[in-house]
Amino acid sequence: MSLLNVDLGERSYPIIIRDKLLQEPSAWHSYLSSQVLVVTNETLAPMYGQSLQEDLRAAGLEQVELIALPDGEAYKTLETVNRIFDVLLEKRFNRKATLVALGGGVVGDMTGFAAACYQRGVNFVQVPTTLLAQVDSSVGGKTGVNHPLGKNMIGAFYQPQCVVIDLCVLDSLPERELSAGIAEVIKYGLIYDATFFDWLELNMDKLVARDHDALAYAIEKSCHTKALVVAEDEKESGLRAILNLGHTFGHAIEAHMGYGEWLHGEAVGAGMSLACDLSVRLGWLDESVKTRADVLLKRAGLPVHSPEGMQPADYLKYMAVDKKVLDKKLRLVLLKALGEAVVTEDFDHAALDETLKTYCQP
Ligand SMILES: NC(=O)c1ccc[n+]([C@@H]2O[C@H](COP(=O)([O-])OP(=O)(O)OC[C@H]3O[C@@H](n4cnc5c(N)ncnc54)[C@H](O)[C@@H]3O)[C@@H](O)[C@H]2O)c1
Ligand SMILES: [Zn+2]
Repeated sequence: MSLLNVDLGERSYPIIIRDKLLQEPSAWHSYLSSQVLVVTNETLAPMYGQSLQEDLRAAGLEQVELIALPDGEAYKTLETVNRIFDVLLEKRFNRKATLVALGGGVVGDMTGFAAACYQRGVNFVQVPTTLLAQVDSSVGGKTGVNHPLGKNMIGAFYQPQCVVIDLCVLDSLPERELSAGIAEVIKYGLIYDATFFDWLELNMDKLVARDHDALAYAIEKSCHTKALVVAEDEKESGLRAILNLGHTFGHAIEAHMGYGEWLHGEAVGAGMSLACDLSVRLGWLDESVKTRADVLLKRAGLPVHSPEGMQPADYLKYMAVDKKVLDKKLRLVLLKALGEAVVTEDFDHAALDETLKTYCQP
């Protein structure tokens, strides 16, 4: 078992990583109160939710309820969060309630937001079930929902009591979702940890084959890096922005394609390839790093190209509205070396045009 600590003063919390944590909630039920609401979705309720509810009841907790929300990003809305409030009020949950988020980032973001709001804040525990949620969304305290006019525009910073990462749940994860999660894992190597990137090159086949030991190590390293960056910059004023490597390009791809066509991690995979290419063109990064990144992304089952038909103007249109454009200047996360990222608006835009041209077929 591996135990990490996210160091945020009095809001610090542990991340527990192990096999079979869902089957054995005794390993973490000390983080729960006597009133628990398990929040999950309709896909995961029959797979993991109902048995967790039974096990927690058997462990002697006073009240354990479950709500299964509709599955999908389209339901990450205030209306859906309101359904969580309905159950909390109907079942008379008090301020000592604990919400357990059992699911991917969609469930985690909504449950955390509901926990931040219900009676001005109740406890919550993250039980992330996608690799992306395990290495990214469950760590860092960003919670929230989408608005018809913008993704993740309504939300709060709110930290959980504990993050419970059971490696066994990854066995049922669809292959594309696994690859999408690996994109964020590769990101940590590129922005912060060259030694970890070397390790990924040696172990990518094991990760893709869902070897639990390899996954445990990769998840631990990823959470460790995210936790370090978040501890230094909890409210995203500076350093935390490096976690967005590949994301400005990626968001443009997601928006151009319509959300859901390319998974977020797939768009970020391609986006990181573009960011590396631009870094090379600017003379900041050795070409060999870009080649290694592309090879690793491909081995993870990720695209290193633009969607068919997407043009430079499409990128620029969406990149201009990306929230990382401050004072009308386009800010990008680029690499100075393997394991070393910079956030800058100070780059030659002609090089960006060249990169976009190279990645877009006329
Ligand atoms: N809060 C943050 O810091 C942060 C960071 C990154 C992403 N996000 C958010 O996370 C969301 C994406 O999360 P995601 O990629 O986990 O997607 P998701 O939550 O939609 O899950 C993907 C799909 O996999 C299914 N699934 C989940 N676990 C499974 C399992 N173990 N076995 C089988 N199927 C399973 C889900 O039901 C869903 O259909 C987005 O809304 C994004 O905005 C938040
Ligand atoms: Zn991401």
